[in-house]
Amino acid sequence: MIHSIIENVKITPHSGHLASYIPALANQSKDLFAACLVDERGEILSFGDANYSFTLQSISKVMSFIVAAEHLGLEKILEKVDVEPTGDPFNSIVRLEVAEKGKPFNPMINAGAITVASLLPGDDVEARVNSVKQYLAQITGHEHTVNEEVYRSELETAYRNRAIANYLKANDYLEGTVEEALETYLQLCSLEVNTEDLAKFGLFLASDGLIAGENKNLITHKTAQFSKALMMTCGLYNASGKYAATIGIPMKSGVSGGVLCAVRNGEIEHLRGYIGIAVFSPMIDEIGNSVKGMIFLKQLSDQYHLSVF
Ligand code: DON
Repeated sequence: MIHSIIENVKITPHSGHLASYIPALANQSKDLFAACLVDERGEILSFGDANYSFTLQSISKVMSFIVAAEHLGLEKILEKVDVEPTGDPFNSIVRLEVAEKGKPFNPMINAGAITVASLLPGDDVEARVNSVKQYLAQITGHEHTVNEEVYRSELETAYRNRAIANYLKANDYLEGTVEEALETYLQLCSLEVNTEDLAKFGLFLASDGLIAGENKNLITHKTAQFSKALMMTCGLYNASGKYAATIGIPMKSGVSGGVLCAVRNGEIEHLRGYIGIAVFSPMIDEIGNSVKGMIFLKQLSDQYHLSVF
């Protein structure tokens, strides 16, 4: 059944665009498509270009929030960033002008994620990025590297993010220097994964932080709960409400074309219980969500009744 969904999605005419505002992402092949599902027993279903590595982009924001919350405690993080959806584009600045003293609305938009990046454990950019790489490696079982070409190309053109970071610093919602926060945030956005890695991250979230085969929770229930709630309410930006209603599972997108999902109690072919799902297709819509990724997830949710509602 999943095969027929994928074949149907793959023959759908391309629409949307590549995230060419990040120059290095303009070179991705439009025809790439991968999907991976993994359940709590470690059963894996992989389809298409499953070994293709792509950059996390905004999906990294979920990992950063988790590491910062586990490091400083949720209450401390919530003093610096709220948990409210904006209904605005991911890189909007407007709310920083009208919000309570310029406090970023949530950690899934660029403003909140840049604040969270400045709160990560470590005395410098390398240490802060490593704090997230270490968590990711425990989840996926291998090390992850920064795609330097993507990172450099975005750092050289990050005019909007630099404006956001300066605004946050001016209103005391940034620790350390603007440059450090920006470099940390953009290196995390450029961390490379494949869909199997991402599906394992989704399973980690769905199971409230369980590491498969180790039967230990790497994070607190509260951190996992807040992460999934933020994915559901803010993870797809100004389309989060539509997809909560039509797909109904915690999801987080990235402009390179990845989408991360956490299913708490699913039954998909021979997969059961907690299920992590990842899909990758680089053409994105005007909001920044993968066009074919969202079509795939909508059909999967309809077919297997994945919605939590
Ligand atoms: O900061 C940016 O604009 C990118 N590094 C990440 C944006 C992104 O992935 C938005 N999500 N769909």
